[in-house]
Amino acid sequence: MIISLMTPEQEALVETTKKFVENVIRPVAAKYDQSSEFPEKELKQAASQGLVNLTLPFGSELSLYDACLVIEELAKGCAGFATSIVANDLALTPIAIGGTADQKEKFIKPIVESGEFASFCLTEPGAGSDAAGLSTSVTTDGDDYVITGNKQWITNGGYATQYTVFATHDKSKRAKGISCFVVPANTKGITCGHHEDKLGQRCSNTVAINFDQVRIPKANLIGKEGEGFKIAMQTLDFTRPMTAILSVGIAQRALECSLEYAKERKQFGAEIASFQGIQFMLADMATMIEASRLLTLHAAKLITDGKKASKESSMAKRLSADSAMEITTNAVQIYGGYGYTKEYPVEKLMRDAKLMQIYEGTSQIQRVVIARELLNG
Ligand code: CAA
Repeated sequence: MIISLMTPEQEALVETTKKFVENVIRPVAAKYDQSSEFPEKELKQAASQGLVNLTLPFGSELSLYDACLVIEELAKGCAGFATSIVANDLALTPIAIGGTADQKEKFIKPIVESGEFASFCLTEPGAGSDAAGLSTSVTTDGDDYVITGNKQWITNGGYATQYTVFATHDKSKRAKGISCFVVPANTKGITCGHHEDKLGQRCSNTVAINFDQVRIPKANLIGKEGEGFKIAMQTLDFTRPMTAILSVGIAQRALECSLEYAKERKQFGAEIASFQGIQFMLADMATMIEASRLLTLHAAKLITDGKKASKESSMAKRLSADSAMEITTNAVQIYGGYGYTKEYPVEKLMRDAKLMQIYEGTSQIQRVVIARELLNG
C-alpha cells in the first residue's frame, strides 16, 4: 500500500486488518483450503470487528476507497476468506442502491447487525456472461410475487439467510424484463445444492440454488419492475474495484513470498535473487502490482466522489485479475518444484488467482464493457 498517501485513520484501519489477518486468517488458511470448509467462526469474528459489510449502511459505512484498503490486506491472508466478505457487500449493495429507506432498514440492518450472510443471485446455469439472458421467472399472484428458476455459482449461498434475486417477468424483453427481489432463505420452495469442490478459493462457499414457486410479498421488490438489470450493473460497477483489489492482495502476497524465497534459495553457489533472470521477474511483478493498485484506487476514488466509473471499474478488474494470474504463476516458477507443492504458499495463490479472471464478470466481459464505454461514451 502507498503508505504516504494514507491518512492516519486509513493507516489505523490497515493496521487493524493486518493484525486480524496475522492472528486469525493466516493460521487457518491452509486448513480450510484443504478441507474446503466455510470459515464461519472466523468470518463472524471479522464481522464483530467491523471487517464485513464494509461499505454498507448500518455496517462499517466505509468509502469504497477505504474498503479497498481493507480488502487488499484480507486477500493477503486468504482470497477465499476475502471473497466471502466481499460477497456480503455484493449481495446487499442492490438494496443500498435501489431500495427505499424502509427497505434498507428492513433488509440490510438485521443482516449487518447479526453478522449473518447474504448472497447475490444473478448467474444461472445458462446465463453467466449474458446476464440479461437469465430465465428465472417471476409472476404476480395477488399481493405476492412467485419466483421459479435455478441460480448457479452463488457465493455464501449455503450459509446465507437472505438472497438478492434477479428474475424476469418476460424473458423476451431481456434487460428490460428483469426485476430485483429480496428473498429470505427460509422461504418455502428454496433448496441449495452441494458446495462446489473448486480449484481455488476453496473455503468460499459456492452453491447452486433452486427456487420452486417461491412466494414473497410485493414489498420485497427493489426499485421498480424492469429496473433489476440496471441495479445489477450499477452494483457490479461499485463492487468490481473490491474484487480488483482482492486480486492485488493475492499478487502482493505472491511478490512478498517470492522476494523472501529468492533471497534464501541458493543455486550455482549464489542466491537466486542475484540472477538477472529472477530480478526481472520480480521487477515486472512489482510494476504490475503497482499499476493494478493505482488503477483500482483511482476507480474507487471516482466512485467515492459520486462519479460513474463503469470503464475504470472494469479496467481495474481486468488488469488486476490478469496480472494476479501472471504474477502468481511466476511466483510458482521462482519457487521451482517446491512451489508446485502444498508445502509452500504460492500454489494456493496461483489457484486462488484463477477465479479472479472469472467471477464478477470474466476478463473478456470487462473488455466488452471498456470497449463499449470507449465507443459509445
Ligand atoms: N449502469 C447502469 N445501466 C447500465 C449499465 C451500468 N453499468 N450497464 C448497462 N446498463 C443498462 C443499459 O444502459 C441498458 O439500458 P437501456 O436499454 O435503458 O439503455 C440496459 O442496462 C441493458 O444494457 P446492455 O444492452 O448493455 O445489456 P447487455 O445484455 O448487452 O449486457 C454486459 C452486457 C455488460 C456484458 C452484461 O451482460 C454483463 O455485465 N455481464 C457480466 C455479468 C457478470 O458480471 N456476472 C457476475 C455475476 S456476480 C458474481 O460472479 C459474484 C459472485 O458470486 C462472486
